[in-house]
Amino acid sequence: MTVTISANVDPLLSQESELRRLRDAVNQRLSQLLPVGSERDRISEAMREGTLAPGKRIRPLLLMLAAGDLGCDRNHPGLLDLACAVEMTHAASLMLDDIPCMDDAALRRGRPTIHRQFGQDVAILAAVALLSNAFGVVAGAAGLSDTCRTQAVAELSAAVGLQGLVQGQFRDLREGNAARSAEAIADTNELKTSVLFNATLQMAALAANASPAVKSKLNCFARELGQAFQLLDDLADGHSGTGKDTNKDEGKSTLVALLGAEAVRQRLREHLHSADQHFSWACQQGLATRQFMQTWFSQQLATFS
Ligand code: IPE
Ligand code: IPE
Ligand code: MG
Ligand code: MG
Ligand code: MG
Repeated sequence: MTVTISANVDPLLSQESELRRLRDAVNQRLSQLLPVGSERDRISEAMREGTLAPGKRIRPLLLMLAAGDLGCDRNHPGLLDLACAVEMTHAASLMLDDIPCMDDAALRRGRPTIHRQFGQDVAILAAVALLSNAFGVVAGAAGLSDTCRTQAVAELSAAVGLQGLVQGQFRDLREGNAARSAEAIADTNELKTSVLFNATLQMAALAANASPAVKSKLNCFARELGQAFQLLDDLADGHSGTGKDTNKDEGKSTLVALLGAEAVRQRLREHLHSADQHFSWACQQGLATRQFMQTWFSQQLATFS
């Protein structure tokens, strides 16, 4: 993926500081939107810990950058709320993904997983409460039309539900320990990873009042991006420094296990190239999203190769 950076676009350095500003805004708003309980309120504490722990915040950044590229004001307060709702949804999915009956992980975002800190009962209840919070945040997002908020709720609901994260997680758990075809793995990766990226992009499109044609291109972008993102995650599994358990995927039928790391890196680059093309078709004006994706994946690939 090569992005031509023209004179009217932020140079990389200023994008760095803009990303920091947006990340800070997300963290601050998340902190406001999450409940603050009494010392004995372990559920509120777990919700805060699971969400505010230092994740990369890729989805909320993407939502705000893409909406900006599509002509929406990046500083629109409603946009920040949509971004936080996506991050809460993602954090809930990670808390559930880590519990012993799923991936049984010990480490997440450089800290003990939520069930290790608070117990499985609290981790499950906090994840459910987080999901519920996320929908409430979208429904009440400031300064967006009722139609926009209703459609954004529908997008998030589709991403979480039976044809989204839930189905992807189920297939990953039930089929991941046996041999699978490359197509079956990619189908599951789409459900467990691409669908939330799609909701992220569709919510950006709704905030920017984008046309159906643009939304359809963004759907293609999100599918390719999700595939690339999951391949990167699978490549990183054997490396330390991810803030997660290393070699968690041992014995799992990932594309890395099936095809080898080099072939997966090549596939990843193809997905990224395709993602970039879809975004450029969806949005001829802004380059912030493409620049962000290119820079971020290059850095990550350099680290995990
Ligand atoms: C991890 O997502 C789960 C996958 C879909 C691979 P991230 O890599 O975005 O995790 P955080 O938010 O940075 O912790
Ligand atoms: C997670 O996939 C996808 C989710 C939707 C939670 P993984 O199980 O590979 O994610 P990590 O490696 O634990 O972050
Ligand atoms: Mg998993
Ligand atoms: Mg996992
Ligand atoms: Mg993983």
